[in-house]
Amino acid sequence: MTSNDASDTTGTSDAGPAPAGFTVWVEHFVANRATQLAMEREVDWGAPCTVAPAARAALVRSFQRFELGEDGDGARLLAKARRAGDPVYVEALQRLVVEEQRHSALFRRGLEHLGAPRLDEHWSDAVFTRLRRLLGLRTELALFLVAESVAMDYFTALATRAPDPVLRGIGRRVASDEVHHLRFQADRLRQGFAGVPRVVRAGVGVLWTVVAAGAATVLVVDHGGALRACGLRRGRVWLDGTRRFAAQARLVLGTPEAGMLGPAPAEAVVAATGAGGRRG
Ligand SMILES: [Fe+2]
Ligand SMILES: [Fe+2]
Repeated sequence: MTSNDASDTTGTSDAGPAPAGFTVWVEHFVANRATQLAMEREVDWGAPCTVAPAARAALVRSFQRFELGEDGDGARLLAKARRAGDPVYVEALQRLVVEEQRHSALFRRGLEHLGAPRLDEHWSDAVFTRLRRLLGLRTELALFLVAESVAMDYFTALATRAPDPVLRGIGRRVASDEVHHLRFQADRLRQGFAGVPRVVRAGVGVLWTVVAAGAATVLVVDHGGALRACGLRRGRVWLDGTRRFAAQARLVLGTPEAGMLGPAPAEAVVAATGAGGRRG
């Protein structure tokens, strides 16, 4: 998937030159905790669940997948990042891993609200975890960017159109983090692709787009019922997710020498969370 999968399997030398400038991301993740807590305080966690049975089953299935998928400790990913040699980036990445674990906890809370258990394991999570262990830092981050790009519309729909206020609160909370995560992954990937010849980057872009299309397909199949419960059509989610990914890929592969994107601007957060037209 990248230009040097041979080095990817070592997880040591594929991430390019040691990046600089991730202090802005450490500061973002530190400051973001207050935002997260404020958003969580807005949710009436004890409110009765208002979801109809069919939609409830679909949302349970979807939340169970996300609860498992976001729960990793990131130890192997962080070890790869440490070997790439930028302690500021490692600190930022550690804080991102904690945010992902909090997403898992939020989906767990959502499952409690829906009256359903978490899963101990699911084959898709086990396969994805094993696959990621084989990859180098850059390829693993590339997969994160794919997953976060294609799922973003679902989180936004959860935030704005889920059939229950607690679920909307969870959606707002997750979407408000993920809109930044996309840019965080892009910033590190840009540095990882700096110095890679244009023709190689073009080839990576083609392969990467194929993977993104596959991931979008898995999302709309695996979470189709939950998407419907949030008023989304599968085809639209697939198209918008792959388009969002393509825009991210252009940022990474088209201008890898450019400076840091940094955290998302306020209007992007509002668009991702629907905070401008909140329904509670
Ligand atoms: Fe997440
Ligand atoms: Fe994320």
